[in-house]
Amino acid sequence: MEISGNNIPRHVAIIMDGNGRWAEKHGKERIFGHMNGVESVRNAVRASLKNGVRYLTLYAFSTENWGRPAEEVEALMELLCQSIENESKELCKQGVRVEILGDRSRMSEKVQEHLSLIETQTRKGEKLTLILAINYSSRWEITRMAQHIAQEVAQGKITPESVDQQTVIAHMATASWPDPDLLIRTSGERRLSNFLLWQLAYTELYFTDIYWPDFTEAEYDKAIRSYQGRERRYGLTTKQRREK
Ligand code: IPE
Ligand code: IPE
Ligand code: MG
Repeated sequence: MEISGNNIPRHVAIIMDGNGRWAEKHGKERIFGHMNGVESVRNAVRASLKNGVRYLTLYAFSTENWGRPAEEVEALMELLCQSIENESKELCKQGVRVEILGDRSRMSEKVQEHLSLIETQTRKGEKLTLILAINYSSRWEITRMAQHIAQEVAQGKITPESVDQQTVIAHMATASWPDPDLLIRTSGERRLSNFLLWQLAYTELYFTDIYWPDFTEAEYDKAIRSYQGRERRYGLTTKQRREK
């Protein structure tokens, strides 16, 4: 059932964590957990559409995840390509537009082709923007932003004094999307692991012990309800917020 109330987060971001531990709990290899996590991605997309969430960002692979055993990294990349092939049609039908956040240059040609393919195939989607963070980290993004601004200053396009928060935002890889309203992290870990450090400045945080493959639509709805009970003050007083 759709959640009532107008206070639905426009942008939900999720750190999908706990696949490995979920697999271990079931006596299986880590990749089995990743494979089962795909169903939770489907559920999160469905729940976002149902509730009127407009942007869903999923942290699928961090720059640090390259350090995992080669066979796990390979299996994850293969799973990504397979999922793109399997899900693309349904995503189009649902009105979902897929966009990629992260450094593609390090990925294999095959993965890069799949990412371009899903972006092209789903570009007409207008109900939900699904942002896949792949080979993403906040420190990568912030460093890149600093480089781009420095280049523009060096080229005389902008002056150092003119650099303000809007300049920074415009040079982030996330420039075309609003900041997340709600961040969910599964698996009991309470950290950001290099995810959207700038963008999460005023985001509401929701942590659950549930492992990602067990994260159902009902769990997603629970997170939204928790969000609906929060008061976002942005540094002001409650009275000031009410008078706005
Ligand atoms: C999240 O699950 C998926 C990725 C990071 C790719 P993990 O693989 O981190 O699972 P745990 O945290 O080891 O249980
Ligand atoms: C964060 O999970 C990255 C993704 C979910 C893609 P990790 O499992 O890599 O994070 P740490 O190592 O526990 O901080
Ligand atoms: Mg993990």
